[in-house]
Amino acid sequence: TRLHTIAAAAAPVAGERRAKANIDWDTLGFGLKDVAATMYVAEWTPEKGWDSGKLVPYGPLNMMPSAQVLNYGQAIFEGMKAQESAKGRVVLFRPDQNAARFKAGAARMSMPAVPEDQFVEAVRATVENNLDYVPPMGKGSLYLRPLLMGTGPILGLGPAPGYTFAIFAAAVGAYFKGGQLSPIDLIVEERFHRAAPGGMGGTKAAGNYSPVLVTQLEAKKNGFADVVYLDAKTDTYLEEVSSCNIFVVKGKTIKTPPLSGTILPGVTRRSIIELARSRGYDVQEAAVSVHEAMEADEIFTTGTAVVVSSVGSLTYRGNKKAYTAPGQAGPVALEMYSALTDIQTEKADDKFSWVYPV
Ligand code: COI
Repeated sequence: TRLHTIAAAAAPVAGERRAKANIDWDTLGFGLKDVAATMYVAEWTPEKGWDSGKLVPYGPLNMMPSAQVLNYGQAIFEGMKAQESAKGRVVLFRPDQNAARFKAGAARMSMPAVPEDQFVEAVRATVENNLDYVPPMGKGSLYLRPLLMGTGPILGLGPAPGYTFAIFAAAVGAYFKGGQLSPIDLIVEERFHRAAPGGMGGTKAAGNYSPVLVTQLEAKKNGFADVVYLDAKTDTYLEEVSSCNIFVVKGKTIKTPPLSGTILPGVTRRSIIELARSRGYDVQEAAVSVHEAMEADEIFTTGTAVVVSSVGSLTYRGNKKAYTAPGQAGPVALEMYSALTDIQTEKADDKFSWVYPV
């Protein structure tokens, strides 16, 4: 069943619908400058479970200072993108994967799962209701941010008595400063870990994304785009970057750390593994030591927000290994970026059935 929308869906004709939003499509960054007019909100109560939700103007959520999420951090989120495609329509990318991860994350954080069909329909309806915020093909995307949080009040430690599922959206461009195809410089972090065995690193919990800021901000001050974390047990193997997964290339072999609980199971990660295999690479989900990474031919990162980002250099204990010429993305990163975005924008045949029309 399709969600009732508060405004008639905007005309799906490019020029017509975009005139309304009055956005400068050529200067999109990754921010809230062009936040979509409406958001989806659903509520869960113990008596009724999830309501079907509604689209309302983008604005504040209503909760008490005693909301569980504000005190004990019961919250997960997703990142997704809707894009204009070469077929002249707007499409989502593998929303079923986000729905499944959202459900798994809810279980890890003791929250009631949003039914997967409700999740996908809510995302679709949010895009449909904000078509005027979808950038022209190639200029960016409409980034979607589904949230699930314990908004009911509680004092003693326990799960919230009420939950909110919300989705807001914004027109975005490249994630990293410097633009999509400009390589990023990373530094290996040795004091802090992102996740530990038995923890929640494999969950898209809100709480995983602020402890990384202290190192990220310091790295940025020193000219790096971000840091690479090492495993908490041995300080030997790469885990991931603050906001994305990591891939290491040597010849025709591509390795990415295995999903052992501490790694975020990225939808782009999964997709790049499948795409690279279909293009003849030997892709291994296997531990990669920092020494192996320093000897690699190429490194790139993947994520919904970052898409595929070439790593220009990696710095470890004062040694800087450069993988690419300055300003030049690595060849495998470029190949995978094109292969992925060609499918996402329907320039290439969607042979994996990843594209979901809005
Ligand atoms: C995404 O890639 O969509 C994410 O959710 C990561 C976030 C830190 C921007």
